[in-house]
Amino acid sequence: TALTILMFAIAYLLGSISSAILVCKLFNLGDPRLQGSGNPGATNVFRLGGKTPALFVLIFDVLKGTVPVWFSYYLGLQPVYLAFVAIFACLGHMYPLFFQFKGGKAVATALGATLPLGADLAAMLLSTWILISYLTNYSSLASITTFILAPIFTWIVKPDYAIPVAILSTLIIVRHRKNIVRLIFKQETKIRDKKQIK
Ligand code: G3P
Repeated sequence: TALTILMFAIAYLLGSISSAILVCKLFNLGDPRLQGSGNPGATNVFRLGGKTPALFVLIFDVLKGTVPVWFSYYLGLQPVYLAFVAIFACLGHMYPLFFQFKGGKAVATALGATLPLGADLAAMLLSTWILISYLTNYSSLASITTFILAPIFTWIVKPDYAIPVAILSTLIIVRHRKNIVRLIFKQETKIRDKKQIK
């Protein structure tokens, strides 16, 4: 229906608002795509400007996933279309219309999009991310591990959504391909690390 297509468009456009780029401008931190890991996301903004700007980015990027999915749910969209709304939000973040299609990896946005599936799933995903990042100091490794496990966790708590979450996971892991190469060759940027982009 028209409403469904409208929600896809809204999710993509909202996802396209790169909060990392905007917050960095606001805090005079330069373009996050040209510094640190080069990724416009909360982790890299933390590297460049510390906790406060990173928290703004994190919250905004999470909401880019949560708000359109939650709205679509209340507008009565079918589960399969809700999954597409989530995917469009993440595609907006990865390939933003307003920022030369050079976006981020959609970790926060995907987490936000899965929040409406329940607190138990959110807790599982979040604790995985926190544990791995705490143990290794690699945000990318935490994100990759979280989204490898995400379809399994979803299958346990909300089996109907396991396949869409697996699609989201695939997109996110593919977006981390350069991080994976850097991890293998021990050249990955740590969370607390000012090393320049390679
Ligand atoms: O959210 C992106 C994260 O998984 C990796 O970030 O800046 O270390 O490439 P970064």
